[in-house]
Amino acid sequence: MKLPGKVAIVTGAASGMGRAVSLRFAAEGAAILCADINDPANAETAAMIERAGGRALAAHCDTSQSLQVQAMVRQAVAAFGKVTHLYNNAAISKPNPPVPESVADLPEDFWRATLDINLTGYFLCAKYALPEIIKAGGGVILNVSSTAGLMTGQSIAAYSTTKTAVIALTRSLAIDYARQGVRVNAICPGPIETVRTRIGRPGGPQGDERVKRIASQVPLGRLGKPEEVAALALFLASDDASFITGAAIPIDGGRTLGIIGGGAPA
Ligand SMILES: NC(=O)c1ccc[n+]([C@@H]2O[C@H](COP(=O)([O-])OP(=O)(O)OC[C@H]3O[C@@H](n4cnc5c(N)ncnc54)[C@H](O)[C@@H]3O)[C@@H](O)[C@H]2O)c1
Repeated sequence: MKLPGKVAIVTGAASGMGRAVSLRFAAEGAAILCADINDPANAETAAMIERAGGRALAAHCDTSQSLQVQAMVRQAVAAFGKVTHLYNNAAISKPNPPVPESVADLPEDFWRATLDINLTGYFLCAKYALPEIIKAGGGVILNVSSTAGLMTGQSIAAYSTTKTAVIALTRSLAIDYARQGVRVNAICPGPIETVRTRIGRPGGPQGDERVKRIASQVPLGRLGKPEEVAALALFLASDDASFITGAAIPIDGGRTLGIIGGGAPA
């Protein structure tokens, strides 16, 4: 086991990569505080962990809300005695219902919501988990960015801005807390098979058609799987990565190299 005796907070644990990482960390011995706003699906993640013999607690937490984040960290400590790991993952990418996303048309409230959840939420979770991580003798923070934080695409200004800023926040956290035994890295997934990759923008391809189109732009010729991201997260969360901090690591099938066959990014 790679994480025996550890306690991890995973935000956005109800779905996609957050669920996959929760299951993987738990299988490696960590107790998991699953934090999400989708209570039924979050409870199911915790139940899946428990059915597999692990320890988990589902907590309702809107990560953009300071008081809810503080309460969630207290719940983790009350349930498991400490916090050693934080997996900052909860994020939004598209407005629902859809609205135009090029800057002149982008509604101010979607811009603010994206910054609140994707950036301030990561800050708040780090701010309130850090004292506990330090108290526990050090640990690891992983911030999920995106290849959209390393490059960009059309009509993703709000999302891309936050994902780039997450890398800057990662570097600041890494240097500020290095001497206190906290390693902080960013994970930059390319297209990964989750619910969100099946939903395109209005007028564009949807579902299988969208997945096929995205896959055609990836040098390895397919989308990644949440479990592949969980494997990278586990490596970075474990002592195997003991000399890695402040890095932003792509996991993208080569997508940031360019597009096979040319054409516009998805
Ligand atoms: N899927 C991809 O292809 C892809 C690619 C690059 C980066 N990412 C990033 O990976 C992470 C996970 O993506 P995913 O596709 O698994 O997402 P997802 O949409 O399947 O899951 C996101 C989870 O976050 C939760 N959430 C949303 N707002 C929240 C809030 N304010 N407080 C608490 N929870 C909230 C949702 O309820 C959901 O359970 C995100 O940071 C995303 O930006 C995804």
